[in-house]
Amino acid sequence: MAASSNKRVCLASRPGANGIPTVENFRVEDCPMPEVEDGQILIKLLCLSVDPYMRCRMNIDTGTDYMSPWKLDDTIEGGGVGVVVKSRSAGYSKGEVIESFHLPWQLYAALDVQGFNCLIVNKVDVALVKKHWSLMLGLYGISGITSYLGIKEKGHVAPDGSQTFVVSAAAGSCGSLAGQIARLEGCTNVVGICGSEEKCTYITQELGFSHAINYKTEDVGERMRECCPRGVHVYFDNVGGAVSDAVIQQMTPDSHVILCGQISVYNTDVPYPPPIPAETEQVLTERNVTRDRFLVLNHVDKFPDAVQQLCAWYRKGEIKYKETVAEGLENAPFAFVSMMTGGNVGKQIVRVADL
Ligand SMILES: NC(=O)c1ccc[n+]([C@@H]2O[C@H](COP(=O)([O-])OP(=O)(O)OC[C@H]3O[C@@H](n4cnc5c(N)ncnc54)[C@H](OP(=O)(O)O)[C@@H]3O)[C@@H](O)[C@H]2O)c1
Repeated sequence: MAASSNKRVCLASRPGANGIPTVENFRVEDCPMPEVEDGQILIKLLCLSVDPYMRCRMNIDTGTDYMSPWKLDDTIEGGGVGVVVKSRSAGYSKGEVIESFHLPWQLYAALDVQGFNCLIVNKVDVALVKKHWSLMLGLYGISGITSYLGIKEKGHVAPDGSQTFVVSAAAGSCGSLAGQIARLEGCTNVVGICGSEEKCTYITQELGFSHAINYKTEDVGERMRECCPRGVHVYFDNVGGAVSDAVIQQMTPDSHVILCGQISVYNTDVPYPPPIPAETEQVLTERNVTRDRFLVLNHVDKFPDAVQQLCAWYRKGEIKYKETVAEGLENAPFAFVSMMTGGNVGKQIVRVADL
């Protein structure tokens, strides 16, 4: 295979902690085909996950201790699925499909899978995904598991149908699943907040949410009062900022905020979680509302059970799952920038190659 048939995406520049990321922050370039050494496998990349946390890795300081910044001119890395095309490790064979949180954005890459500092790589269960490989990045990956475990661990959902559940970024990967899971767990009034009419229609008409609020065109506080006459019992917060302040104003005593993400401030130089206004803090305190930070990586032991439950719901048709797919590695930067500005419905994926 010619050296020029390999390609990678690297970080060309940083947007700055207060900047909006653009495709120019990335560079797509030819690179050599890697040599495969002992303890390594050569993989062909099949698909990539595009995620909001990556915005933090574009900064010099990610603001967290569990992820490091991407280095300038280094290959971008993130969640992905690949197929082994050559193995020099006893544990792997040609043709096996693997997934990892740390795959390079590179058509062909050599991965260390043995030894002290080896990459954590999991073999994909072919029977589970039935060749829909990107399920491992969405429904059966971080999005699905975060939605399920976030609700289980921090939501305190009552199965008696008495509760109102609200989710922001509701048509996105985590949000669209969280709303459906909350309904399956017993919430009867499920309200989604999202950024377009198309998304509002999707979550109400296709996913069965009770109500949708377009935060870009509607008064969120006013619509919340209409859609949640008994107040909010559980809020799955993906965005933070003004949207979340308006939701928290409607929370009932002893209710729960699942602090999943705060994408509205990811282009802003603030700590995580960001400070909240005094009026919002006052509601939390006076009404005894919990607002626990949820980090899915702290619950790795529960991943297998979560995937099993998600799979059971999906196969019975009780959960719907959608992807927005960008074609080709060279479109990965666009996919990321688009997802950060709401261009996706469901999980944003990059399809790199077929098996
Ligand atoms: N805690 C964890 O372990 C964990 C794990 C995974 C993800 N997360 C977090 O979960 C959240 C959702 O992640 P995801 O992967 O499912 O992404 P996603 O929702 O599929 O995509 C991001 C969405 O955020 C919305 N958005 C962008 N800027 C916004 C703004 N300023 N205000 C309000 N909404 C905005 C956009 O939808 P609209 O069109 O609706 O604006 C966009 O589609 C993120 O905050 C992420 O960091 C946390």
